[in-house]
Amino acid sequence: MASTNTIELITREEAQTRPAAAGSCSPDLVKAPWNFDGGATPAYGPGASMADIAPAATPRQGQIPEEYRLAGDDELHAKIMAVKEKLGEKLVVLGHFYQRDEVVRYADFVGDSFQLARAAKEKPEAEIIVFCGVHFMAETADLLSGADQSVILPNLAAGCSMADMADIDSVQACWDQLTDVLGSEPDEDGRLPVIPVTYMNSSAALKGFCGENGGIVCTSSNAATVLEWAFERGQRVLFFPDQHLGRNTAKAMGVPLEQMPMWNPRKPLGGNDEQALQDSRVILWHGFCSVHKRFTVDQIEKARSDYPGVRVIVHPECPMPVVDAADEAGSTDYIRKAIDAATEPTVFAIGTEINMVNRLAAEYPQHTIFCLDPVVCPCSTMYRIHPGYLAWVLEAYAERGEVLNQITVEDNVAVPARVALERMLAAKP
Ligand code: 13P
Ligand code: SF4
Repeated sequence: MASTNTIELITREEAQTRPAAAGSCSPDLVKAPWNFDGGATPAYGPGASMADIAPAATPRQGQIPEEYRLAGDDELHAKIMAVKEKLGEKLVVLGHFYQRDEVVRYADFVGDSFQLARAAKEKPEAEIIVFCGVHFMAETADLLSGADQSVILPNLAAGCSMADMADIDSVQACWDQLTDVLGSEPDEDGRLPVIPVTYMNSSAALKGFCGENGGIVCTSSNAATVLEWAFERGQRVLFFPDQHLGRNTAKAMGVPLEQMPMWNPRKPLGGNDEQALQDSRVILWHGFCSVHKRFTVDQIEKARSDYPGVRVIVHPECPMPVVDAADEAGSTDYIRKAIDAATEPTVFAIGTEINMVNRLAAEYPQHTIFCLDPVVCPCSTMYRIHPGYLAWVLEAYAERGEVLNQITVEDNVAVPARVALERMLAAKP
């Protein structure tokens, strides 16, 4: 029997814990992820980013052996637990909040991308770090872990469509144009014309670019701290790839919208004139997350009308009008902590990925917790990890010492990327 699929699990939980959902965004979500492996052209698979165009260089996953595709839940569970037992401290499994429950149950540590970056750094005794998340997170784990540790991404197709919206060539071309217009000399206060800031959701190459050019990495939990760091050192910021996190954070810090031009990599000067770039404080890359783009002000208004007194919390990857209409915005861990801290039974309408929202609803039955989006539409790339792949990579290592799906960042990129990451980890508070 094939393993339980997430969509059925979500639907069952919804019936118990939250207002009725209006179906799912793709009938393909009932299929296991291996149905989407081995395609001739790269694609993100079913879920929120299925309509996004995956770049030609996007890693692809070949078919995993039949024994893992045909194994039932119990069999996969026994395989995974046997390896965990055998390897003990030599293995650490990290899981992002957006992973399906059937995967999260095996994680030694579950967290947001910032916490998982730290967790990777703090487990020197582990030979193997299995990252149940997406590609940029596994790259970051490789950057921050020791040279004798190997990082594994159980399904290579687990990328991030937003991270793919900025590539090193387009960012370098943007940088060259900005340097032509704005120069490269510091002003009388020693501040450079532009500081590059990359969201954690980006390739290691872009983190390396930031490290080489006086820049830094941020996550959704420290974006304001990082922008402050950047404004101390620069007259303006080039923020990529997520326009929404950049705009929402800078707006909350008092930067006027007129001083936040968008950079469209397909247009000369990103679609701006020189004056707009001279006057800018934050230049926003034209990227977005297809999961968080689904949230709307109408959904918030409906939640407020259906549940007077509802507390609306959204992720800062949501568009600005949604963040403005919400009561609060914060990273995945911020959302979890806000719910955890609520002492009275509360109705929460949440604007982030469905697996996490439904898990919170199950973990905190004293509250009513539901996703603002009535359509069940998980992150397409997080969906690509499944216990079948986990069992496959774990058994290969435990039985044959074989490291499958290793994620390695070459030294020429890793050295400057670490500089940008360490600046982030050192930035206060
Ligand atoms: P967090 O940094 O909040 O974990 O978010 C990562 C992410 O990919 C959100 O879409
Ligand atoms: Fe990327 Fe959005 Fe998925 Fe996060 S939720 S991993 S930003 S596609």
